[in-house]
Amino acid sequence: MIKVCFVCLGNICRSPMAEFIFQDMIKRENLQDKLMCSSRATSTEEVGNPMHTNAKKVLTKHHIPYTDRKAQVLCQEDYQNFDYIIGMDSSNIFHIKQIVGGDSKNKVFKLLSFCNLNDNIEDPWYTGNFDKVYDEINSGCRAFLEFLKMVYSL
Ligand code: 4NP
Repeated sequence: MIKVCFVCLGNICRSPMAEFIFQDMIKRENLQDKLMCSSRATSTEEVGNPMHTNAKKVLTKHHIPYTDRKAQVLCQEDYQNFDYIIGMDSSNIFHIKQIVGGDSKNKVFKLLSFCNLNDNIEDPWYTGNFDKVYDEINSGCRAFLEFLKMVYSL
């Protein structure tokens, strides 16, 4: 089982959106017994809180199923348990490495790097642009899934 953890600042907007978008792709491609995913925050700000209402709205608009969940912070143990830790922006990457103590096993990546871009997925908590974030996460997740399928011959 290849285990993926998506990470953003609050774990109420971008990383849970990535979790549910990627989960839907996994299901559509019948890869549930090969791939699993979850998501975490780098900050404690929103711990225990549900996904942002506008994140839920944009997922519903694109027919992506989601479940009730509570924001959870990334911990050192997660670095051992997951095979890939995928951040949304450069600040997430910095804080992920700070929390888990570096990246000796080369597990930490920025999502849009799989689209050959060095771009950040901007925080919709501040921009309010959930549609743009949806499109970027969807492209990143698609490219990441194609990468995994190639590397592991899935
Ligand atoms: P996210 O957005 O990192 O995409 O979940 C944020 C949500 C909440 C906060 C920051 C970012 N906050 O500071 O409370």
